[in-house]
Amino acid sequence: MTFDRSLKIAPSILAADFANFGAECAAVEAQGADWVHVDVMDGHFVPNITFGAAMCAAIRPHIKTVMDVHLMIAPVDRFIDDFAKAGADIITAHVEAGPHIHRTLQAIRGAGVKAGVALNPGTPAETVAELLDMVDLVCVMTVNPGFGGQQFIDMTAKVRALRKMIGDRPVHIEIDGGVDPTTAPLVAAAGADVLVAGSAVFKGGSVSDPAPYGANIKAIREAIAR
Ligand code: DX5
Ligand code: ZN
Repeated sequence: MTFDRSLKIAPSILAADFANFGAECAAVEAQGADWVHVDVMDGHFVPNITFGAAMCAAIRPHIKTVMDVHLMIAPVDRFIDDFAKAGADIITAHVEAGPHIHRTLQAIRGAGVKAGVALNPGTPAETVAELLDMVDLVCVMTVNPGFGGQQFIDMTAKVRALRKMIGDRPVHIEIDGGVDPTTAPLVAAAGADVLVAGSAVFKGGSVSDPAPYGANIKAIREAIAR
């Protein structure tokens, strides 16, 4: 994975058919996804449960691009090796998940995986100021984590602040929640380069009829290019 700041669309399989994850990953990549975003929830850090490391390992062979694992779990550290072994390219942990995010990020990189740090909407940009040399990605949540299909919360001022703080460092800014052709241009203009989109990508399509995935991804890209 070489670093580049060009725009990337990362469909979240939270909005895919749970009985068909392997085929869904392959279908959405064939339709133009740049990364595949995998939302891990524990029913404790967030009020919803999805899946764990075994599921990530099972879908890994079906992902040719980047497996971008978003951990909405607390505690984090004891599970890092499991997700690394499952083949995650990036593991993102929340700054709110515990008192020792610095140690968590050290452990992720120590496991040979790229490290991301995520911020809930209520958490200011400054909380990651001391972490920017030890991460590959900052994820700005534009919904309160836990569910797909929620309404976008405008965090463009935070994205702009982070973009400035990051400077020349090879650190991606990822946006997660409520991204669609209306909201994507706002965050892209503010400096984000990875856009997670669940419902806006998977709506209207299926494994047997994946063309809508491609049209949905294209609609997001075209809205930004406009
Ligand atoms: C929210 C998840 C998101 C979610 C985005 O907790 O982290 O990745 O799947 O879904 P949409 O794009 O539907 O808001
Ligand atoms: Zn996510």
